[in-house]
Amino acid sequence: MVKLSPSVLSADFARLGADCREVLDAGADMIHFDVMDGHFVDNLSFGLPVLEGLRRALPQAYFDVHLMITHPLTYVKEFVDAGANCISFHVEASDNIRSTIASIRAFGCEAGLVINPNTPAEAVFPYLDDLSLVLCMGVTPGHGGQAFRPETLEKLRKLKAECTRRGLNPYLSVDGGVKVETTAPQCVEAGANLLVAGSAIFGVQDKAEAVRRFKSL
Ligand code: DX5
Ligand code: ZN
Repeated sequence: MVKLSPSVLSADFARLGADCREVLDAGADMIHFDVMDGHFVDNLSFGLPVLEGLRRALPQAYFDVHLMITHPLTYVKEFVDAGANCISFHVEASDNIRSTIASIRAFGCEAGLVINPNTPAEAVFPYLDDLSLVLCMGVTPGHGGQAFRPETLEKLRKLKAECTRRGLNPYLSVDGGVKVETTAPQCVEAGANLLVAGSAIFGVQDKAEAVRRFKSL
């Protein structure tokens, strides 16, 4: 069954804990936590103290942390201590990729690698053996509510084929522009088994119903 990671970037920050609890109770598998540094991407979001607060409020939740920051290696330990279960960072970031993956894993956390729309699928192939998650951006990172770029589907297919060929089974995830009626089923058909959705879940009136519809895909 496809897994769902609602992105809190579109949540109501005045009631973040309650919003997260609502989607988890409705069947969401984890919470996607988008960290932006205003440098790697043009936007700023939230960081360590917010994750610490959510971890306190939701001790059993799985936090899927997506670092859109230039120097992920510097912050690995702090995000693990704050409550991350999986830390994903961008292949386009500035730190050494192998060292960053090794550091995440050394702290007992799962490691993920993310590729931007203009980065080819092959960029993550050398690291696949050590990854729990590969995330294909369906939009340029930095903002919720953008339109999905259809070329993402071809990248998902390539990643799925490479994982199958090598007998690997990481989460194959997609983030940005994922909508239950249109792009989500296309992504699943292309091989995605973990959908990240922000505005399609936290941006609608009935979040629980949105979760149930995603989970029925
Ligand atoms: C964008 C973030 C996404 C964002 C997706 O840079 O990484 O997680 O919340 O938002 P939607 O689902 O609205 O495209
Ligand atoms: Zn994200």
